[in-house]
Amino acid sequence: MEKLVVKGPTPLKGEVTISGAKNAAVAILPATLLIDGVCTIENLPNISDIKISCEILRQLGAKITWNNEHSITIDTTNITTTKAPLDLTSKFRASYYIIGAMLGRKGEIEVGMPGGCKLGARPIDQHIKGFEMLGATVNLEKGTIYAKAKKLKAAPIYMDIVSVGATINVMLASVLAKGTTTIDNAAKEPHIVDVANFLNTMGADIRGAGTDVIKINGVEKLHGGCTYSVVPDQIEAGTFMLAAVATRGDLTLKNCITKHLESITAKIFEVGGNVEDNGDSIRVWCNKRPNNANIKTLPYPGFPTDLQPQMGVVLALANGTSVINESIWESRFQYTEELNKMGAKITAQGKTAFFEGVKKLYGAPVYSSDLRAGAALVIAGTAAEGETEIYNLEHIDRGYENIEEKFRKIGAKIERVKE
Ligand code: UD1
Repeated sequence: MEKLVVKGPTPLKGEVTISGAKNAAVAILPATLLIDGVCTIENLPNISDIKISCEILRQLGAKITWNNEHSITIDTTNITTTKAPLDLTSKFRASYYIIGAMLGRKGEIEVGMPGGCKLGARPIDQHIKGFEMLGATVNLEKGTIYAKAKKLKAAPIYMDIVSVGATINVMLASVLAKGTTTIDNAAKEPHIVDVANFLNTMGADIRGAGTDVIKINGVEKLHGGCTYSVVPDQIEAGTFMLAAVATRGDLTLKNCITKHLESITAKIFEVGGNVEDNGDSIRVWCNKRPNNANIKTLPYPGFPTDLQPQMGVVLALANGTSVINESIWESRFQYTEELNKMGAKITAQGKTAFFEGVKKLYGAPVYSSDLRAGAALVIAGTAAEGETEIYNLEHIDRGYENIEEKFRKIGAKIERVKE
């Protein structure tokens, strides 16, 4: 078993280069199944979710060549099976994108129910509704999803809730469907735009991604022969921005799109931190105890649920009482119990948590319950006095590239230790 050992407190200072977006990359890789040819994807984050995605594609028949640790060339000319490896698809959430992509490519797929972080109920009814409206039949039996369509046909699809996954999945399934599909009440996250840009580069005709109405004009075929670079990771950037505030440091983030970070920037100003937008880089610094603030997580462009735990560390240390209302996931406050072990005073009730700010956190052994909770604990350990041991690293490794190396470069005293 591995653990991270962090000795604090350290104000994080220096430059961090942000990696490609996990949530875009895990959709773009299955999207290559829609192409009858070869393409190159660059700026992939070097994380375990990407390695598993590649292995799933390989087992479906794709040929993958690693050009370097952030770039692959993928040949999806011969897709030889419609059965996705159940053991791998159950390892992460985004494996459900195989369904939309394979319905488009082969009209058939058998795949395990997706895994991923345990954030409460994670239904996929909106994905299924979308596929069925496009003419597919979808059956769920003993943890396996069987989806089939003789011929997909465009349809008007209204999403009952704003869902990132359902928006992308329906987009994937409809790219090659005859006619014009409309997705109403679509999610608007940056990675939705990135997946649409990728598909358009390959010959798709998708309009309106990034707004709440997306129109997909079905095309006959997607061509290969293109190189595409994944968008910078909004959530990794936000994680380091909040790390700068929580540790009262001064960080410059390179390779980020500052437009995607507006809700985080606004909250940093509210708690008394400073943000300087330099176009493709952003500087964040804070030299005093943060003020209290209230947060409500919302779909983009609202404050992202995936930065809620990291913001929770800032508010745990703030001057005064703060309230976080988590409106997306029903069970995303497990990290607050770990912060309380470090001296925080947080009371979580259902989807609301009350933070009575403390002056200091103290090192303690803590357990990462999910990916973003793990990142929050790394920030907390860096801000806290003494030694923090963080366990359950597999969550963090799914979504953050070289987290300890990136933290070490900006001054953190952090080591990965085998027990
Ligand atoms: C994606 C992100 C995840 C992020 C989340 C919200 C990936 C791989 N993961 O997850 O990191 O926390 O967006 O920004 O991109 N819902 C339904 N029915 C559905 C689908 C969703 O009721 O069919 C509900 C969910 O329970 C949740 C809300 O809709 O309450 C949002 O979920 P969704 O946007 O789909 O999240 P994911 O795509 O799973």
